[in-house]
Amino acid sequence: MNIFRKIDYLLSQPMLWLRRHLDKRQGELFSRKIADKAKLSSKDIRIAAPFYVKGKEYIQFSGFFQSHPGLRIDCFDYYAGHQYHPHLYLGKNVICNYHCHIGVINEVTIGDNVLMGSRVLITDHQHGQFTEEQRDIPWAERALISKPVHIEDNVWLGENVCVMPGVTIGKGSVIGANAVVTHNIPPYSMAVGVPARVIKSIK
Ligand SMILES: CC(C)(COP(=O)(O)OP(=O)(O)OC[C@H]1O[C@@H](n2cnc3c(N)ncnc32)[C@H](O)[C@@H]1OP(=O)(O)O)[C@@H](O)C(=O)NCCC(=O)NCCS
Repeated sequence: MNIFRKIDYLLSQPMLWLRRHLDKRQGELFSRKIADKAKLSSKDIRIAAPFYVKGKEYIQFSGFFQSHPGLRIDCFDYYAGHQYHPHLYLGKNVICNYHCHIGVINEVTIGDNVLMGSRVLITDHQHGQFTEEQRDIPWAERALISKPVHIEDNVWLGENVCVMPGVTIGKGSVIGANAVVTHNIPPYSMAVGVPARVIKSIK
């Protein structure tokens, strides 16, 4: 390592330490605010920074919730001139790994003991319809279309799983890594692939 690199390295260390410290503090403050509002203990909410949460007033926390860095929750009550009524219910003991994204304009419910791998997407809406009437309207300007999503208790969503609007995933199920869930999955099923298909079930 030449002398300039060494100086550069030494100068960058305090900045890195400060960045990490501020991130940690930001996560703690936000988590405490959420816990207070939901009348939970401050230990019940652990959201690590960086995070992006829009519409936190539409989120119902009911117990322990943990997210690793990169959480993105969008609860839109207004988009492209239209009003929406989002409701996101989070059960007890829900864990999101890194960079999970939950988008809500209508209803998403996530049951108790749901575990998500990293980069999971759960959304209850689409950017308009793929129809002749709408074909020349920019996608970002079309009215959003929504169907509720329900993820029942004790479901495990593997890495990169996408859960599409209108889907219910039955309790005790596991969805394999990289699956795109476009149809309902019955309770106690293992589903994999694009679109996700049930490959195993238990009683
Ligand atoms: C779905 C999963 C739980 C199945 O594990 P398992 O019970 O050990 O099952 P197997 O490995 O015996 O696989 C059963 C079949 O499904 C296939 N399969 C397994 N996972 C798959 C996946 N994610 N996508 C597509 N097919 C998959 C296997 O190839 C196998 O098919 P075959 O019988 O034709 O050979 C696991 O493969 C998985 O995806 N886990 C998620 C891991 C993860 O994301 N971890 C990080 C997160 S918290």
